[in-house]
Amino acid sequence: MPHGHCYLWMPKILWLHVISDALITIAYFSIPITLLYILKKRRDIPFGWMVVAFGIFIFACGTTHVMEIWTIWIPNYWLSGFIKLLTAVASIVTATLLVYLIPKILSWPSPEQLQYLNNELQAQNNELNKINKKLADTQQQLLQSEKMASLGQLAAGVAHEINNPIGYVWSNFKSLEDYQKKYTLLLNAYAAYDQTFSKDNEHHKKIIQLKHDIEFEFIQDDIPALLKECTDGLTRVQKIVKDLKDFSHPDSDEEWVYSDIHEGLESTLSIAWSEIKYKAHVIKEYGTLPSIECLPAQLNQVFLNILINAVQAIETQGTITLQTHHDQTHVYIRITDTGSGIPKDILGRIFDPFFTTKEIGKGTGLGLSLSYGIIQKHHGTITAESIVGKGTTFIIRLPIKQP
Ligand SMILES: Nc1ncnc2c1ncn2[C@@H]1O[C@H](COP(=O)(O)OP(=O)(O)OP(=O)(O)O)[C@@H](O)[C@H]1O
Ligand SMILES: [Mg+2]
Repeated sequence: MPHGHCYLWMPKILWLHVISDALITIAYFSIPITLLYILKKRRDIPFGWMVVAFGIFIFACGTTHVMEIWTIWIPNYWLSGFIKLLTAVASIVTATLLVYLIPKILSWPSPEQLQYLNNELQAQNNELNKINKKLADTQQQLLQSEKMASLGQLAAGVAHEINNPIGYVWSNFKSLEDYQKKYTLLLNAYAAYDQTFSKDNEHHKKIIQLKHDIEFEFIQDDIPALLKECTDGLTRVQKIVKDLKDFSHPDSDEEWVYSDIHEGLESTLSIAWSEIKYKAHVIKEYGTLPSIECLPAQLNQVFLNILINAVQAIETQGTITLQTHHDQTHVYIRITDTGSGIPKDILGRIFDPFFTTKEIGKGTGLGLSLSYGIIQKHHGTITAESIVGKGTTFIIRLPIKQP
């Protein structure tokens, strides 16, 4: 007998049931589809199989409601009974699985716990970033030191090779200058003797002609100028060789002593004063500094290199500011100029030996590499900050006591 008899085929009751069951069915059938869609999009959702079990269970429930409608007219109670049985199995399985999952679900962190963990992670991440940056800086310094060491060996080799020939060229040259003076004396004596010859003497005429042909007067004037230029050139080569040697072995016989950095700065300023005074106004912002263990003459060389660079970077008029301060373990010296500044792409190369942007004859590119070696020897650091068009600051950090 169709199920509709239970409703006495009263249309109102019948349709109330049919419509309600239909709506429940639509809802039940749509839920597994939504669940499948979510699972497809979020493959990381844990216990996906549980979601699948829920989907089957809800689908089965929907089917029982279809059968509710079906049996109103067609009394297929065996089929509807089996579908109910399947639904029961699916519900029992899902319910059991849910119980099994309870401890796992309860162990999931709450949103507050997640937020806390997230904050912790963020803090650790920041810390890691800081360490990473420190490592990168250290690596940069190590690379620079390594580069310096290998360039130092190269420089030492070159300096040694050039030093020998320069030595004998220099000493021969000094003899040559001396001989030239003696030749001049002799020639002058001959010239005085010349006057005694008669104008018609053939030999005399030939000598006069030769003097004219070889531009004797000009040669006489030019030789001392040429010799002076050569002496200047040789002096420059000697200075370059000395710089190269200092760069490769910045250790001289100088003793490590406790010395006052301000004294060093002052004496360097007075040495460079003739260069500085026309171009820069010097501002001193000295703090109180303890004496530090150092090689004072070498540090003065560093200050001198930086000051000369500063003056050379100022085109017409500018300012050089010297600042000093210290903490428990180190002293800091900042030398700032209002010069041309250093473009970013070359800032990383200024400490390289032979790196120069100056015209030939004005810079050899050894000043800063030499300074770098000296500061490293003092277990300190030297860095530069610069803004093109505004100026440059060199920051030297030196330990008060050598390790
Ligand atoms: N204060 C500064 N302002 C602008 N540029 C600078 C400054 N100091 C250094 N530089 C740049 O760094 C380069 C290298 O300097 P470094 O002192 O080593 O060599 P140099 O001055 O060119 O030659 P040297 O010092 O051997 O005579 C310079 O050529 C210049 O381009
Ligand atoms: Mg220089």
